[in-house]
Amino acid sequence: MRDGRAVAVVILAAGQGTRMKSSLPKVLHPIGGRALIEHVLTTAEGLNPEYIVAVVRHEKERVAATISAFAPDVLIVEQDEIPGTGRAVESALGALPEHFQGDVVVLSGDVPLIDVATLENLLAGHSEAGAQMSILSAIFDDPKGLGRIIRDESGDVIGIVEEKDASVLERQITEINGGIYVFDTAALAAALQTIDTNNAQGEKYLTDAAAKILASGGRVLAHATDDSWVIAGVNDRVQLAAAGTELNRRTIEQHQRNGVTFTDPAASYVDVTVQIAADAVIEPGSILRGNTVIESGAVVGPATTLADTFVGADALVLRSEVHGATIAANATVGPFSYIRPGTTLGVAGKIGAFVESKNTQIGDGAKVPHLSYVGDASIGAEANIGAGTIIANYDGVNKHRTNIGESARVGSKSVLVAPVTIGAGAYTAAGAVVRKEVAPGALAMSVAAQRNFEGWVAANRPDTTSAKAAAAANIPKDGER
Ligand code: UD1
Ligand code: CA
Repeated sequence: MRDGRAVAVVILAAGQGTRMKSSLPKVLHPIGGRALIEHVLTTAEGLNPEYIVAVVRHEKERVAATISAFAPDVLIVEQDEIPGTGRAVESALGALPEHFQGDVVVLSGDVPLIDVATLENLLAGHSEAGAQMSILSAIFDDPKGLGRIIRDESGDVIGIVEEKDASVLERQITEINGGIYVFDTAALAAALQTIDTNNAQGEKYLTDAAAKILASGGRVLAHATDDSWVIAGVNDRVQLAAAGTELNRRTIEQHQRNGVTFTDPAASYVDVTVQIAADAVIEPGSILRGNTVIESGAVVGPATTLADTFVGADALVLRSEVHGATIAANATVGPFSYIRPGTTLGVAGKIGAFVESKNTQIGDGAKVPHLSYVGDASIGAEANIGAGTIIANYDGVNKHRTNIGESARVGSKSVLVAPVTIGAGAYTAAGAVVRKEVAPGALAMSVAAQRNFEGWVAANRPDTTSAKAAAAANIPKDGER
């Protein structure tokens, strides 16, 4: 409630979005890790309204499912075959309880950067002036395609005209209708009853409410915002990318103000859901997605993707692709590693260069430094996995687990054939293929002892460069004979 007045938010999302040329409904296209409609829902919820009503029609099941999953309390109504923003709002009013009185805030599902502060301002101005309709407008150098705000000589709003219905003179007006409004519910409902579809598009225009409310003695105001991004609509992929870039810039600026270093903000992409503590450093080319959390002092990047990943304090993640992992404090990852869901890396642990891991718990201080695959395994604290080790977790039918004890030493290029257990403090020799349990403290060796065949090259590869090099190396030096 503001000044004792109840608020309902109506979100228009029935339009088709033809210019997206997409099989995905327009309002479901994502920027900053959320669908356009989810950004608008987040802002709507930020107003703490009594009701939120979303109007759907095109691909209604898909759009409604996304809305309900994100914001279960939202009332969803379907617009009938009468087209236009006015008809859409009329349908929404029908979903509000009979007794609802107060203000209706109208938002568009395809205007994702609208924010709570702008709407609170619009609501405050609306109630201070005792207005029945307050329009969020903006001054655009290039107003093409948008509705224009018509004012009289004294500057009072006298109506809104759509570009397709505008005269040559009206088209020169640069104050545009942002498509975001506050209405007094009763005045809006009365106006909608009298609006027809006699216009260039044959639609029931919400914009016609301005003239109708004025005609019945109401007050209509337009507040021009100096932040034109808050009313920027997404109608095609170019505008989708532009809104996404601006949202990213705003998201990163917020993190910078909170104490996060971005070496090059324009070269990093951060979902709105990501949390980053002060004194973390994000290097260029980092893409931070979903429910990623980065703690203080951590360094991420360059060229790193983190999705749904926790990075502990002072950890380092360099040039890697990391999904659904937990990386504890002081641990290091990369360069060039692929960390898949279910990986946990303990405090001061290490996943080094060219390592793939999946569903593997790596203990505190344990290291997988080079060129390995570790999957479906648990690796004890302080264990060391030699370069080139492969955990063969898949027998062609099922996946099996491998357990490696604390402080075990797995020799380079070992193949650990799951299911298998290597005891605490045990060793495997270089190149071992380990199929049987290794007891704590034991050494597992599976490769036959080395045999050398003297003179094999001279006998079997005569006249090769190898044979010549061998011969030169074998010429006895003076005095040796
Ligand atoms: C609308 C305004 C225009 C304003 C512009 C700002 C009208 C008549 N015109 O034009 O003055 O400058 O927004 O972006 O309102 N929708 C429905 N049902 C419909 C038609 C549209 O729910 O039958 C929804 C759309 O999904 C969209 C919103 O309403 O979210 C705006 O519709 P759109 O067709 O984009 O209106 P514009 O022509 O851009
Ligand atoms: Ca639009």
